[in-house]
Amino acid sequence: MQQIKEKLLQALEAAKTSKSAEALEKIRIDFLGRKGSITTLAKNADFSKMSVEEKKGFGQRLNELKNFANEQLKAAAEALESVAVRHKTNDLDLTAPGKGRRLGALHPITLAQMELEDIFQGMGFSVLYGPEVESEHYCFESVNIPHDHPARDMQDTFWLKNQLILRTHTSANQVRTLERFGAPIRAIFPGRCFRYESIDPSHENTFYQCEGLVVDKDISVANLIAVMKTILSQVFRRDVRVRLRPGYFPFVEPGFELDLNCLFCGGKGCPTCGDGWIELIPCGLVHPQVLRFGGVDPREYSGFAFGVGLTRLAMMKYGIRDIRYLNCGDLRVNEQFSVLM
Ligand code: PHE
Repeated sequence: MQQIKEKLLQALEAAKTSKSAEALEKIRIDFLGRKGSITTLAKNADFSKMSVEEKKGFGQRLNELKNFANEQLKAAAEALESVAVRHKTNDLDLTAPGKGRRLGALHPITLAQMELEDIFQGMGFSVLYGPEVESEHYCFESVNIPHDHPARDMQDTFWLKNQLILRTHTSANQVRTLERFGAPIRAIFPGRCFRYESIDPSHENTFYQCEGLVVDKDISVANLIAVMKTILSQVFRRDVRVRLRPGYFPFVEPGFELDLNCLFCGGKGCPTCGDGWIELIPCGLVHPQVLRFGGVDPREYSGFAFGVGLTRLAMMKYGIRDIRYLNCGDLRVNEQFSVLM
């Protein structure tokens, strides 16, 4: 009986490759048909020579073998069936209309970020990425915003249960970078930031910035202005005029708001800019305390830092009026940018 069982399994294995219902039927006849080996085994058994016990055992094993054979055949038939169904659905129908393939598209912020990275890399800047989940130390203390400082209120954030926070600005990377690479350094840190903000057409709780940090010997405001002008001229593909106004950020001294001469009206004043200038990039010379936090001696080195609003830049560059389009996840927003790559 064991032999028959093995032969049956071999035959079924062989039938798998032929993949035909006829092959299975042949196996059924060979084993379970009128002259099949299992049937013959039962027919030829000489019961007269067996004890009652032996007869019982033989009968039981024979039944088991039959059941086994039936089950195996059924399983093989079912497997065959499902393959057949798959074949049918995969059948090539040359009259069917073609399936369109749509090109993917990059998000406008990604495009703006890639462009900025390119331009800065061309000027010898490294591109670094810091964590979005940040410690209070790097996000606030290390950039000169102590616990009780009123500037904390400017950037209300999301606190996680483990004492970490979602970074409110990419300035959190300044001291991280100084600690890691020391001076001199030239780097940008693009990335996503978060603030506890109520959402309207120009405010989001999730947005992108691109921080820049240059620390070297004899760095001055003149270097800051020159770099900013060069970058903006490349981004907007024309010569731009900029101006600095005083601005306050605890991690720069002096601190500025860099305004861009309005590209729409050329500085005459229009609905977009109001008075001819668009507030664009907060910046300044790195505060000596920040350099010290990063292990850099402010008597030897100085530097500048700036925070480009990447989301804002993408909106200006591509004429997106409402910030909420950017995070809405609607592919119709992205699809418009598929040709820009
Ligand atoms: N981190 C500041 C903000 O998010 C921007 C900034 C960066 C200002 C670098 C000065 C220098 O508002």
